[in-house]
Amino acid sequence: MKITVIGSGYVGTTTALVLANLGHEVIGYDVDTAKVGKLNQGILPFSEPGLDELLQELLSSQRIVFTSDSSSAIKQSEILMISVGTPSTSSGNADLTYLEQVLEVIAAHINAPKIVVTKSTVPIGTNRWMQEQLAAKIDTDQYPVEVISNPEFLREGEALHDSLHPSRTVIGGENSLAIEKVRQLYTLLPTTYFICNYETAEMIKYASNGFLATKISFINEIARLADQMGADIQGVAAGMGMDPRISPHHLYAGIGYGGSCFPKDVDELLHLAREKGLSLHLLKQAKRVNDSQIGWFVQKIESLLPLKGKRVLVLGVTFKEDTDDQRESPGIRLIEQLLDKGVEEIRVIDPTITSLEQIHWSKGFDERGKLKVQVVSEVDAAVTGVHAVLLTTTWKQFAAYPWQEWAGKTESAYLFDGRNFLDPLEMRQYGWHYVGIARGK
Ligand code: NAD
Ligand code: UGA
Repeated sequence: MKITVIGSGYVGTTTALVLANLGHEVIGYDVDTAKVGKLNQGILPFSEPGLDELLQELLSSQRIVFTSDSSSAIKQSEILMISVGTPSTSSGNADLTYLEQVLEVIAAHINAPKIVVTKSTVPIGTNRWMQEQLAAKIDTDQYPVEVISNPEFLREGEALHDSLHPSRTVIGGENSLAIEKVRQLYTLLPTTYFICNYETAEMIKYASNGFLATKISFINEIARLADQMGADIQGVAAGMGMDPRISPHHLYAGIGYGGSCFPKDVDELLHLAREKGLSLHLLKQAKRVNDSQIGWFVQKIESLLPLKGKRVLVLGVTFKEDTDDQRESPGIRLIEQLLDKGVEEIRVIDPTITSLEQIHWSKGFDERGKLKVQVVSEVDAAVTGVHAVLLTTTWKQFAAYPWQEWAGKTESAYLFDGRNFLDPLEMRQYGWHYVGIARGK
């Protein structure tokens, strides 16, 4: 089939490459000409394991092309798959500006019947509204348009794996022929289909992210108690996860969830409920626990090592391992809280950055960040003279650092592991005062 994927970000690029690899004729369309230029040269504009190779292979066999030409992008394909961003506004609701722009472009260039597939995460009610909007803008007797909701469940850092092995394929719509066409896009993938109406499909996406966020906040709150009681939260989660009704996934305690989706999708659900006169009490508390998790960890650090005037090394600024995405990164929030506590010098190592300018601070932290933070590329010297090392993400290179050698080079060998990533026994043997999140007695 001929497909145009609209929006070449994390989701759009991955989806476009996977669909091309399945044998479809794919155009990736984006308004960002620099991004399009890079993609056509075989350069991925973000970091995601395995995608570079696939991009280069598909470009060289001419099975995919990227463009900023909206007219040809819309005209050439029967399937238009939308994967533009839907970020949060300051009041918590999803900003649909980019989606609205896409509807205008489709209406301006439509030349034949089309199926418009929504991959972006959009508020409940949006796909039905899109169908109405397109019907109002287009002569649908001449050019019928069917909107289909097809939410995406991939994780960054695992995008290719998740796209090739989807947990499920949710297709929401009203027109059975269009639903069947979208189903056929994926016939070569090992997946299970769930066919439903628009609202159900949209709600499955939000409820899934809301549930996973709640699961993380649940284990983080239990970890606070476990920390006082001497229980090992890793063991608690492993033991709980042996019950298939609970499952061990997304049950890792840490410094909280970040990223471009959990925070924004939780906010959108809370916003939607408020608009309907409801309060989602559980989700509100899940957000509250997450918002206070870094503060809880910093307090724990301060109880052992007063931070004012100290030098620290922070490992990790992205929101998780194997991605360069810093949106809503707990690592950056942690650095900002350290600055608030009067830390004198913060050295930072992250595999995806080489300079300070690459860190996306919260409003107001730019200047303070510039004064006290430095990005370190020389791993060997990074730790000399610091009072503590703080770990915020689980990049596998962090585990391979020379921890034994490092311990002796510090001023006071505190190691605060915000992701329970390193082995406490091993680290203590090396001479570190290892402190994780509820690692037991
Ligand atoms: P992103 O910000 O990485 O990419 C969005 C792209 O859309 C950008 O390249 C931007 O230039 C482009 N764009 C904006 N306006 C456009 C327009 N009018 N026409 C064409 N292109 C336009 O976003 P993302 O992380 O890929 O997320 C996209 C959507 O998918 C969001 O709704 C998100 O919630 C959802 N989602 C994301 C993930 C994830 O892991 N990132 C997973 C599942 C679902
Ligand atoms: C998440 C979901 O897992 C995807 O299914 C979904 O498609 C995506 O959001 C989305 O809608 O965008 P992602 O944000 O890429 O994917 O990454 P996750 O692996 O879920 O991690 C999110 C955050 O939670 C990270 O900060 C991570 O460190 C944290 N986390 C994750 C924990 O603290 N504990 C866990 O057990 C798992």
